[in-house]
Amino acid sequence: MDRDQLIDLTRRAVKLARDNTTDLAPAEHAVAAREYTSLERHERDVAMLLASPQLVGYVSELPAPGSYCTKTVMGRSVLLTRISDGSVKAFENVCLHRQSQVVSGCGTAKRFSCPYHAWTYDNTGRLVGVPGREGFPGVGVKSDGLTELPATEFAGFLWVSLQSDAELDVAAHLGSLAEELDSWGIGRWSPLGEKVLDSPINWKLAVDTFSENYHFATVHRQTFATIARSNCTVFDAFGAHHRLIFPLNSILELENVPEEQWDPFQNMVVIYALFPNIVLSVTIANGELFRIYPGEKPGRSITVHQNSTPLDLSDESVAAGAQAVFDYAHATVRDEDYRLVEGLQANLESGVRDHLLFGRNEPGLQHRHKSWADALGREIYASAEKFE
Ligand code: FES
Ligand SMILES: [Fe+2]
Repeated sequence: MDRDQLIDLTRRAVKLARDNTTDLAPAEHAVAAREYTSLERHERDVAMLLASPQLVGYVSELPAPGSYCTKTVMGRSVLLTRISDGSVKAFENVCLHRQSQVVSGCGTAKRFSCPYHAWTYDNTGRLVGVPGREGFPGVGVKSDGLTELPATEFAGFLWVSLQSDAELDVAAHLGSLAEELDSWGIGRWSPLGEKVLDSPINWKLAVDTFSENYHFATVHRQTFATIARSNCTVFDAFGAHHRLIFPLNSILELENVPEEQWDPFQNMVVIYALFPNIVLSVTIANGELFRIYPGEKPGRSITVHQNSTPLDLSDESVAAGAQAVFDYAHATVRDEDYRLVEGLQANLESGVRDHLLFGRNEPGLQHRHKSWADALGREIYASAEKFE
């Protein structure tokens, strides 16, 4: 993001903070409780995610030709490789023999030997070796291979389509947001690994926790709220995606500093909601990624939490410090946000109340649900009247 844009956003944030308010949506909205609990909506959500380009990691997870990494996406194991010409490939990580996962983890290898019976594949997915070859007259060594998925790198991130015959057009998917996402460089920072939350909450409820900072003063009273303002957000939509600026408490100090001397990025967290299931959180020191997937039923979801850092991790104490920051951020999401909304999911499933309300001060929440509803051809309601 260029400095002019950052200054402009900071001006907006300072004004909101000074006026003790937040960007507001035109009206409240109501969403039916069953959108979080019904099997019908769950199945449509799964189909929506399968049909969308999926951001699965940072380009820095495949640093050089010969690098590989594995990802679990919607319950499917995916192998990503960077081949000799530098391009990125993706495959279903499913052996052609008896469907073992061929590879796990990440690293550098140009060939992958299945851990079960040692069928071997190269990093373009081609089957190159079958021990006991006479047992498999119908299998084509050098002609058969792992099922390829469309894959690319774009805006600093790795993307796949989970539909092998789909066209993967990430530029069209991100639209005008692409350049801005790329400009932070977080996808090229050093990756710090993955932490997984397998949670008894609908995947949308998980996404919702990142869509507003109205809850900071209560849920994060002793953590984030000690540094960041509550109920104070700069909101901008970019088609089906949006950006939230969460100002830090220090932002009001800028009122007494000439704009030329502002170091705006020291005073905010930038959150991106990428349609349909991705959250990015960018600060001066952390490029967090949350990949949120529906689980096996409406009331379960999987969140894969990643983080990247601009710091040089070759220094052990720096690496330990970066991990500690990641651990802290993860524990906060797990023990504060997700723990609280477990009870919310239980209430939704109890059927006691038939709707939830999204306030004018929760424009990101409204935008998320509107983007999903638009994609699925359903409604969220302009008021709670529909339910009364
Ligand atoms: S399942 Fe992979 S070699 Fe047998
Ligand atoms: Fe939170």
